[in-house]
Amino acid sequence: MRRPVVVLVGPPGSGKTTVGRLLARRLEVAFRDTDADVEARAGRSVADIFVELGEEHFRALERDAVARALAGHDGVLALGGGAVLDAATRQALRGHTVVHLDVGVHDAVARVGLARDRPLLVEGPRTRIAAMLRARAPLYAEVAAAVVDTVGHTPEEVVGLVEKLLADRRHHDHAVAAPAGRLPGPLVGP
Ligand code: S3P
Repeated sequence: MRRPVVVLVGPPGSGKTTVGRLLARRLEVAFRDTDADVEARAGRSVADIFVELGEEHFRALERDAVARALAGHDGVLALGGGAVLDAATRQALRGHTVVHLDVGVHDAVARVGLARDRPLLVEGPRTRIAAMLRARAPLYAEVAAAVVDTVGHTPEEVVGLVEKLLADRRHHDHAVAAPAGRLPGPLVGP
């Protein structure tokens, strides 16, 4: 069965796409991003979907894109920052190797810049990001078994930290020589 090597979650500006691309290159696997999948299927940008069809419609497309990618992609997968808002998506992430890239308000704002492509952040990015981080923290914690603090780290350093987590997990899986059917290594979510 195809399943992603790792699924990256985290707020806008946490570096999911940048880190995900670099990590995929290092691991010599493909990179996939559910925002890009949604755009390809809808034939328009995320920003246009928000404006023309509304956030609810976008969330439905995103839920579908995440389900497809979880079942059909065996490389590195990055989810849109709000994908974890959906209960079905959180459920679908169970048993996957999910890593939460964390970031503080200051760095997130600096990284998203003017946020022209991020419809939810166009007005008052600082306030919106602060509210997002607060509201979503428990959701990222629910789906991810590991968190990497990206603050003060270059994308390359974050890639190294995620690689180490994945390697530790492989080591752990090997070390416990799990009896048949036994699943979770330390990185596999609840
Ligand atoms: C969103 C994050 C965006 C994109 C959409 C909504 C969010 O993805 O899916 O604009 O609700 O946090 P990034 O996390 O890649 O910016």
